[in-house]
Amino acid sequence: MSLKDSQWWRDAVIYQVYPRSYADANGDGVGDIAGIRARLGHLRDLGVDAIWMSPWYPSPMADAGYDVADFRDIDPAFGTLTEAEALIEEAHAAGIRMIVDIVPNHISSEHPWFKAALASPDAPERDYFWFRPGRGDTGEQMPTDWRGEFGGTTWTRTPDGSWYLHLFTPEQPDLNWDHPDVRAEFESILRFWFDRGVDGIRIDSAALLLKDPALPEVLEDSPHPFHDLDGVHEVYRAWRRVSDSYGEDRALIGEVWMPEVERFANYLRPDELHAAFNFDFLGCAWDPRLMRDCVDRTLHAHAAVGAPATWVLSNHDVTRHVTRYGREDTTFSFDNNLDGTPVDLELGTRRARAAALLSLSLPGATYIYQGEELGLWENENIPPEEFQDPMWGRRGHSRDGCRVPMPWTGDEAPFGFTTATPWLPQPAEWKDRTAQAQTGDPNSMLELYRSAIALRRTESLAEFSWLDLDPSVLAFCRGRNFGCVVNMSGAPIALPAHQSVLLTSGPLDGDRLPPDTAVWLRLS
Ligand code: NOJ
Repeated sequence: MSLKDSQWWRDAVIYQVYPRSYADANGDGVGDIAGIRARLGHLRDLGVDAIWMSPWYPSPMADAGYDVADFRDIDPAFGTLTEAEALIEEAHAAGIRMIVDIVPNHISSEHPWFKAALASPDAPERDYFWFRPGRGDTGEQMPTDWRGEFGGTTWTRTPDGSWYLHLFTPEQPDLNWDHPDVRAEFESILRFWFDRGVDGIRIDSAALLLKDPALPEVLEDSPHPFHDLDGVHEVYRAWRRVSDSYGEDRALIGEVWMPEVERFANYLRPDELHAAFNFDFLGCAWDPRLMRDCVDRTLHAHAAVGAPATWVLSNHDVTRHVTRYGREDTTFSFDNNLDGTPVDLELGTRRARAAALLSLSLPGATYIYQGEELGLWENENIPPEEFQDPMWGRRGHSRDGCRVPMPWTGDEAPFGFTTATPWLPQPAEWKDRTAQAQTGDPNSMLELYRSAIALRRTESLAEFSWLDLDPSVLAFCRGRNFGCVVNMSGAPIALPAHQSVLLTSGPLDGDRLPPDTAVWLRLS
């Protein structure tokens, strides 16, 4: 796809860089921009269209950078704004677009606004947040019993006796989106990054921004007090006006966790966001009927609003899919903690290979989470005392296992990631998963991703339709003669009539497709 293609976001392959864990150039054990620049070639060779950069702004790192203290600069651990600008330029020169991550629901408690708000009850900045008196005779009880997104309570009391709201950690006070200054500030932040040439914005916790000011409790049959309030759409309409003023090649991509697809699709109406992550697909079991329903649901909901679907298997918040697909229960949900349940990594890897061909041939954009192209699994052996994720103390699950630094070269940790001790330990078994070990090995995950992304570019992946094979098989056609078949049954199946095999996720068994294997075909 050329940089000139204005609606590139409709069918792009977008690679999530988690800057702490991509590559460390300054030898402190934490990844940085210089490391990303040094290893940009990996992304060029992989063939991705865009990078989504997880937050790289100054931050006390109470939530790995999702607690932003200044949206217009770079954390010294990652580098400087000048280096960020150089990376944007180098990525563009390599034909790769750049998406930055904006976190509008909350900011860091170290942000100047919050510091000013805490300094005096009369500070005008108080109104940028949700400060409220407590309940009870002396205001000793929290204003509501809302549960936080990481579990636990959502209010913290300040020395002057009032409480402030934080849907995540106390270091992430929620902003008051009813205040015009908050809206103006974020529109200005969007412009700051668009002016630096970025091609898109990933929007964190996009459905949470507005709160019912009456602060009702969460009750089953009543409207939710902070999830998906109708007024949030006005915010994104305003953001769309900002992005459109730079051209339709600038994209807004929402992180919208929403079980109801119709409500989800509301965020993708033509004057709102361009795209949103498909968590329905990410959480779906490795099961042909459920997957087929999920694909249908997805395509139907997106078609209704004219938005492109997205296909996401992993990200920095969820258990890596090699691990998920190797478990008996292959679903993902934060409410169903499967940590430590038995995992068959060989099976998980086989399925992850098949899932790569599936997610790269469905209609829409495909997201790759750093390391998935190397077949990395969740590191479930991090000693709890090394956990850094604030979710750990609140939900008994740590997201650190999917955030472990990348293995690049060599036979032992730190595998070329750093010259120091990596900020999280890498499994010794990753010696076979380094980019170096996989390069040139036709059976490797890395070469599978490279071939699939290259083929995806040359194939005209047009109109989607299901092929009616066995119900335990997921099979579809794109355009006249491109076919994808994923065998989710426990037994080999016969391939449909075809002229040639374009790519397989694993060896065929004569003319049969083994279980947990996918194939791309030139159909007859
Ligand atoms: C979603 C982000 O992906 C996650 O990492 C973060 O902890 C929360 N939003 C809060 O910002």
